[in-house]
Amino acid sequence: MTHVGVLGATGAVGQRLIQLLDPHPEFEIACLTASDDSAGRSYRDAAKWRIETPIPDDVADLDVRETDPAAIPDDIDLLFSSLPSSVGERVEPDLCEAGYVVSSNSSNARMADDVPLTIPELNHDHLDLLKVQRDERGWDGALVKNPNCSTITAVPTLAALDTFGLETAHVATLQAVSGGGYSGVTSMEIIDNVLPHIGGEEEKIETESRKLLGNFDGAELDHHDADVAASCNRVPTLDGHLENVWAETSEAITAEDAATAMREAPSLDLHSSPDQFIEVFEEPDRPQPRLDRMVGDGMGVAAGGLRETSNGVQYNCLAHNTLRGAAGASVLNGELLVEQGWV
Ligand SMILES: NC(=O)c1ccc[n+]([C@@H]2O[C@H](COP(=O)([O-])OP(=O)(O)OC[C@H]3O[C@@H](n4cnc5c(N)ncnc54)[C@H](OP(=O)(O)O)[C@@H]3O)[C@@H](O)[C@H]2O)c1
Repeated sequence: MTHVGVLGATGAVGQRLIQLLDPHPEFEIACLTASDDSAGRSYRDAAKWRIETPIPDDVADLDVRETDPAAIPDDIDLLFSSLPSSVGERVEPDLCEAGYVVSSNSSNARMADDVPLTIPELNHDHLDLLKVQRDERGWDGALVKNPNCSTITAVPTLAALDTFGLETAHVATLQAVSGGGYSGVTSMEIIDNVLPHIGGEEEKIETESRKLLGNFDGAELDHHDADVAASCNRVPTLDGHLENVWAETSEAITAEDAATAMREAPSLDLHSSPDQFIEVFEEPDRPQPRLDRMVGDGMGVAAGGLRETSNGVQYNCLAHNTLRGAAGASVLNGELLVEQGWV
C-alpha cells in the first residue's frame, strides 16, 4: 500500500480526492492538511462535506494538520495537492525539497520547463522531465502537475485531431460553478446569469494545451505550435465543463474522420483510467453536463455535434471538472508515478 496525504483536503477538489482515494486499492490516506483555521480539528469537523457519497468514517476521524513540511509524517510516499495556487507556490517546492513526491492540481509551476504537465493517456512520456527536474533542483522529491479543468476537457480531442496536423483550435467554454471552488462564485452572481470572463482561464487553456501536445526529446520539451485561443464563461451548472471547439488541420478532415480518431484515442491500464477515453455521441444535442458528465465514471471525455467547417471541424466536448478535470486527474498522475517507479 502507498501511504498518501491530501493537501487542501477540506476544499472542493480535496473532498473529491478523499472520495476517490478512500476506496483506492493502491493508496491509503494517512495525512490531511488544510489552512490554519482547520488545523487541529477532526476532518469531520473541519470539512463541510458536500459530496454525494457519505464521508468515509476512517478519514472523518483523522486530525487535519497544518500545511507545512514539518507537519507531514515521514512515512508518506505521495502527496496530492489541491491548495490555492498562491499557497502551492510557497509550500510545494519546500515539500519536494524535503523529499516528498507531489501530484498537484494547483496552477503554480504548471508551465515551468522542468515540471511535467501530464494527462497520462496523452503524454505519459513527459514524466521523464522529472530527471531534468531532480538534476536542476537537487530535489529528492518531485513535482508533477495536472492541467486546468477547462484545458483537460478539450485537449484529448485536440490530440486525436493532431493526427491530421492540428493548426488552430478556438475554444469557447461553459464552465460549472464547482470549478471556482466552494467560495468561488456567489449565488447572487450566478443564478439567472452567465459570467463571460474567468480570470486567467483563457491564458491557461492557450498555454497548457501547447505544452501538453508538445514533444519531449528526453532533455527538452518542445511546445506544439498550434494557434490556440479561448473564451471562458461561467454558467449555472454544478459540475461538468462543456466546451465548443473549432479546429483546423493541415490535412483535409471530415466529421467522420474526426469521430473515428476520437473514438480510437487509447486509454491506459491504470486503476482510474476509463475503458473508453473519448466517447463520441451521434445525437447532435449531446454531450450535456447533467446527462454526460459521469462518462467513464467521471474520468472519460465526451464529444458530439461533430460537423465540417470550411477548414476543419466544429464540435462540443465535456468532462467532469472536479473528477477528470482535477481530483481524478491528479490520482491518475499518482498511479502513473507509482507505475513508473517514481514513488
Ligand atoms: N474546482 C475545480 O474544478 C478545480 C479544477 C482544477 C484545478 N483546481 C485547483 O485546485 C486547487 C483547489 O481548488 P478548490 O476548488 O478545491 O478550492 P477550495 O474549495 O477553495 O479549497 C481550498 C483548500 O485549500 C485550503 N487552504 C486555503 N488557504 C490555505 C492556506 N493558506 N494554507 C493551507 N491550506 C489552505 C483550504 O482549507 P480550509 O478549508 O481550511 O480553508 C481548502 O482545503 C486550486 O489551486 C484550483 O485552482 C480546481
